[in-house]
Amino acid sequence: MSIIKVENLSTAFGDNLVHNNISFEVNKGEIFGVLGGSGSGKSVLVKQIVMLNEIQKGTIKIFDKDISKLSLDETKEIKLNFSYLFQFGALYSFLNVIENISVMLKEYTNLPKDLIEKIAYTNLDIVGLPKRVAKLYPSELSGGMKKRVALARSLAMQPKILFLDEPTSGLDPASTQQINELLLYLKNSLDMTTVIITHDLETIKTVLDRFIIIKKDKIFDGNISKAMNSDDEFIKDFLTNKKAM
Ligand SMILES: Nc1ncnc2c1ncn2[C@@H]1O[C@H](COP(=O)(O)OP(=O)(O)O)[C@@H](O)[C@H]1O
Ligand SMILES: [Mg+2]
Repeated sequence: MSIIKVENLSTAFGDNLVHNNISFEVNKGEIFGVLGGSGSGKSVLVKQIVMLNEIQKGTIKIFDKDISKLSLDETKEIKLNFSYLFQFGALYSFLNVIENISVMLKEYTNLPKDLIEKIAYTNLDIVGLPKRVAKLYPSELSGGMKKRVALARSLAMQPKILFLDEPTSGLDPASTQQINELLLYLKNSLDMTTVIITHDLETIKTVLDRFIIIKKDKIFDGNISKAMNSDDEFIKDFLTNKKAM
């Protein structure tokens, strides 16, 4: 069942055409990848889906609703189903780990304090971090730990759709692998659909169920074995990391 449906999306900034008539669907429960070179409009595309950027041309449907035709209340309601982890998604440096994880719960729910703390600790555990880091500040964490805390913060809202913009960028190979394992674990244990922007070949090969590659047009839509069998030179180079991504 499709949970996100993008139809004939075109986006231009001045004379910079970024998306040319792109259509695709994301199915419920899958880990879906948005791939493409640097500047190909991956972040803009995801921001349009989460309603941070305007849709210039085409339609985006979420849960079968055209998101450009929602009332204010409907918009609020749909947004409660999303969590969006920004590229370079930063933690608040003046809040400790558990406070960072609690931020959205405090902002968007009326849950009592002790329950919020419980949920925060549960999510700390889900992303594989020990209790002892709860009171540490971001400056005291490694890069991989920061990403985990940011992920825990996104998961705390129990989103139906989780959006991750380059969740492993800037991480060393070991931390990248840990995040990849975590994403797979989450897929098998939570009832959630995930949309990931990534350049990481391991993520592409081991985590994604399906992905698109965009380069103004959508140039690929399918799974890794289909991509591996593609005759397209760009896609071949892309998947062997020969092309600058
Ligand atoms: N608000 C904006 N105004 C003008 N140009 C923009 C804006 N947002 C993004 N762009 C341009 O759109 C293109 C795609 O950007 P982006 O989606 O961030 O690429 P990426 O695929 O690397 O995430 C880039 O050329 C970028 O400069
Ligand atoms: Mg980007």
